[in-house]
Amino acid sequence: MARKVINMTEPTGGDARREILKKNSGVRSRKSAGLGPRPAAGGAGADQAAKAGREVGRAAWNDSRFLKACRLEPVDATPIWLMRQAGRYMKEYRDLRARVPFLELCKNPDLVSEVTVTAAQKLNVDAAIIFADLLLIVEPLGLHLEYSQGEGPVIKPPLRAPADVDRLHDVHPEQSLGYLYDAIRRTRADLDARIPLIGFAACPFTLASYLIEGGGSRNYRHTKALMYRDRGAWRALMEHLARCLSKYINAQIDAGVQAVQVFDTWVGCLGPADYRDYVLPYTRMMLQAVMPGAPIIHFGTGTAMLLEAMREAGGNILGIDSHVELDEAWGRLGEGVGVQGNLDPVVLYADQAFIRSRTQRILDQAAGRPGHIFNLGHGLLPDTPYENVVALVAMVHELSSRRLSESHTPQAFEAPPLKS
Ligand code: CP3
Repeated sequence: MARKVINMTEPTGGDARREILKKNSGVRSRKSAGLGPRPAAGGAGADQAAKAGREVGRAAWNDSRFLKACRLEPVDATPIWLMRQAGRYMKEYRDLRARVPFLELCKNPDLVSEVTVTAAQKLNVDAAIIFADLLLIVEPLGLHLEYSQGEGPVIKPPLRAPADVDRLHDVHPEQSLGYLYDAIRRTRADLDARIPLIGFAACPFTLASYLIEGGGSRNYRHTKALMYRDRGAWRALMEHLARCLSKYINAQIDAGVQAVQVFDTWVGCLGPADYRDYVLPYTRMMLQAVMPGAPIIHFGTGTAMLLEAMREAGGNILGIDSHVELDEAWGRLGEGVGVQGNLDPVVLYADQAFIRSRTQRILDQAAGRPGHIFNLGHGLLPDTPYENVVALVAMVHELSSRRLSESHTPQAFEAPPLKS
């Protein structure tokens, strides 16, 4: 597989990648992308269907609102998808989970496809996200992963001593995570060709935090202690994770996702100076090694003070949480980058008039500027009222198409001259 040589000094910025995305937005042959033959799918039928889907699909998904927004092109209505759109707030998902444990579900390509496609169809969102988990890569790294009932992930044994870093395995994702790539091929074949499929991965810091803490954490004290105490071990760990994660992402693109979201969910526990010192070089290293052609959404929470530095690390779109005002954040980020967000997920517990007013407020802040993808500031919570989620998607489409079809130029945003 062709990957760019890692160069930590090269500026990543959205601009260079955006040019490549534009070039690649037409039919991109595997040959022209420097790729070898695509590996066989999880069955001859799935492979054929996936192939047919790809042929019909390329043009269809490239014209989607979601991919247009990723390329910062104008759209007829603001695209929306929701983090954790396939999950426990949905009855179909709960019924399935009553029969199948979570990790078993992640490892069954047919069920993954069913869960992913059902959520996208029922909500009428503009993109599907492959049903998987951030931590699937923990097993091939050589640690044990389990999900205990209602407790979240537990990783054993946690990586605490600097010497533990040397014990991490190298990851050959196509071998050890074949089920995920089969699931992507299956899902791409089953999904409407007009709907892009999003793949995802952790960023090195957030993955490191799970490995070191052994699960979730309130203060990340083990992670930060290792980081502050032993710079050499930290660097070795982050470089190892950056390399494994970029391979993991590239194999997802190769299997058929059209875009990738990278989650640095817990990086907000650091201030800007520590982010630049201990995180940015490795996130940049990972993102620079991602093959061109699939836009990258770079997401984190608690990142109000980190946004400019996160942009420097890379990504075509910055995913923002609900603790910043969207217009102010986008203004700070400047030209050449899109923004995804940022409705507080808890707003969905209020009545629909309130949800509508908060939705309108975010669309007003985006002001029709090309490159806005509507999403929540973080994932849907398990007991969110289902009907409000469906209503939100319809509201975003209705309110934004009304705004975007208005003939006047939005006041808050002066469109830059279009390059031919
Ligand atoms: O968004 C989607 O619909 C795709 C699926 C998806 C899941 N996890 C399914 C899941 C995605 C994108 C993730 C990412 C993920 N996983 C993150 C980053 C996301 C973020 O919120 O920033 C993290 C930190 C994880 C690790 C993880 N997996 C945790 C902390 C938990 C437990 C929390 C919980 O809600 O129970 C999981 C389990 C998990 N991953 C569930 C789902 C639907 C719930 C499992 C169940 O059915 O019981």
